[in-house]
Amino acid sequence: MNIRILALSGSSRRDSLNWKLLGIAARGALNAGAEVTPVRLADFELPLYDQDLEAEQGLPDGAKALQTLVARHDALLIATPEYNGGYTALLKNAIDWISRPREDGSPGVALLAGKVTALLSASPGQLGGIRSQTGIRAVLDKLGMLVIPEAFALSIAHEAFDAEGQLKDKNAERLVSGVGAALYRTASRLG
Ligand SMILES: Cc1cc2nc3c(=O)[nH]c(=O)nc-3n(C[C@H](O)[C@H](O)[C@H](O)COP(=O)(O)O)c2cc1C
Repeated sequence: MNIRILALSGSSRRDSLNWKLLGIAARGALNAGAEVTPVRLADFELPLYDQDLEAEQGLPDGAKALQTLVARHDALLIATPEYNGGYTALLKNAIDWISRPREDGSPGVALLAGKVTALLSASPGQLGGIRSQTGIRAVLDKLGMLVIPEAFALSIAHEAFDAEGQLKDKNAERLVSGVGAALYRTASRLG
């Protein structure tokens, strides 16, 4: 079965550690047989969510584009930094916009419900940003998304990659690739 995975990072930083980690898991999913679409949230026009703005102007183009992308994919692969013990506002803002009613009146939350999702995080700290995963998992649960148990938190991430963007620790590389492959397998079984 053809499984399409949308890969998102919660960081817009040019040299993002989470973006690099996402790439490794995405390759694992690709090698397992998935189609993967990596997207940078910073490329989408997404003002800070405001209910008055939505009532007056409708959804911004970036929100509509993200809703369409989510609709066209079977699963989500998300890598997020930890900011002050939580996940990033960039990611929460995107989720809030995606969850809003679509132009045709159908609920945005219906796009997210039932989507299989895998989580990753990377941080220069010792805990690898694991608290960001705890925070986003609660939100994804509430939305009815199915977060798989396979996950990875990369600690001391600023020292973890080689010049080619591979993980120096080959066991970690195998585990991160395995998260992408597990996402593909789970989505295939549920599809
Ligand atoms: C506002 C802010 C808060 C942060 N809070 C945490 C934190 O609570 N835990 C942590 O491990 N790292 C924290 N960091 C450091 C980030 O993990 C680090 O900047 C990381 O490189 C961000 O991910 P990125 O490289 O994908 O952009 C924080 C960084 C910023 C800018």
